[in-house]
Amino acid sequence: MGNFLAGKVVAVTGAGRGIGRAVALAAAAEGARVVVNDYGVAVDGASPAGEVAEAVVKEIEAAGGHAVAVADDISTMAGGQRVVDVALSSYGRLDGVVCVAGILRERMLFNMTEEEWDPVVATHLKGTFTVFRAASAVMRRQRAGTLIGFTSGNHQGSVSQANYSAAKGGIISLVRSAALGLHKYGVTANAVAPVARTRMSAGVPTELAEIGEPEDVAALVVYLLSDAAREQGITGQVYTVAGAKIAVWAQPRELRAAYAAGGWTVERIAEFLPGSVGVDPMPMLERLREMEEAAAEGRRPNAQ
Ligand SMILES: NC(=O)c1ccc[n+]([C@@H]2O[C@H](COP(=O)([O-])OP(=O)(O)OC[C@H]3O[C@@H](n4cnc5c(N)ncnc54)[C@H](O)[C@@H]3O)[C@@H](O)[C@H]2O)c1
Repeated sequence: MGNFLAGKVVAVTGAGRGIGRAVALAAAAEGARVVVNDYGVAVDGASPAGEVAEAVVKEIEAAGGHAVAVADDISTMAGGQRVVDVALSSYGRLDGVVCVAGILRERMLFNMTEEEWDPVVATHLKGTFTVFRAASAVMRRQRAGTLIGFTSGNHQGSVSQANYSAAKGGIISLVRSAALGLHKYGVTANAVAPVARTRMSAGVPTELAEIGEPEDVAALVVYLLSDAAREQGITGQVYTVAGAKIAVWAQPRELRAAYAAGGWTVERIAEFLPGSVGVDPMPMLERLREMEEAAAEGRRPNAQ
């Protein structure tokens, strides 16, 4: 047990299993009192079961820590608010929220239904908003706090998870907006893109060269929640953690520009754009080409 989070109160969504559970256990081991939220659903979001959150609370208590369970659905405003309200009613403050809850409903875009799109976006993107919304109001008053969202390398795009990818891209923009909007109140916001062995990643069809355990992700999250990270002014960042690797993602920025005196016409764009502005090659598309080549040759693609 360390004391990176001594005296702090941290709420973790999706904390009943996988990465969220590891984050909750690690935060408690580092001295935080923890709100353990989990709706206890299957990977596709079905069949809620309240005891999943309670089981992690028992694990934390057995290890000598302090925790309280909230089994609500964080894709509702009431669920997000309850996570924050329980932190305040149980422990009197809220120093950090970590929005880990997530589900998958995989389908090619041309076959995806509204029932596959809406719950995925609601769990990831709205489920981060509901908790950030309620927590940021408290943190603004406290003049301190840390918001952490969970994204994915798939925010770059995905063949068969357009719903998930769009939600994960949205979470990055939400985190950056929180970093900007709450900066003057001393609140930081960052995103984590993990690669870890859980029931969710077990379904990934390709071999992953860089993958670790939920505990690796938990260590990074604990650091981001700590005063050590706050003192470094870390905010508005996206970090990948994949086993032995931690990486920071670039901030989006314009790559190349061209200007036309007198305004653009379609003809001038057709003449200028390919040579002067061009394209920025898409790494995920390169990877897809490799996989298609490997499939055509009947071999396994190289690990990612
Ligand atoms: N495992 C990976 O390699 C990986 C890669 C990229 C991103 N992620 C992201 O990390 C996060 C955690 O993933 P994991 O692999 O631990 O998944 P997991 O399936 O093991 O755990 C997710 C937890 O979220 C809970 N949950 C789902 N919907 C909820 C809701 N509406 N309210 C409250 N709780 C809810 C589930 O009950 C489950 O316990 C997710 O956001 C996921 O998208 C994981």
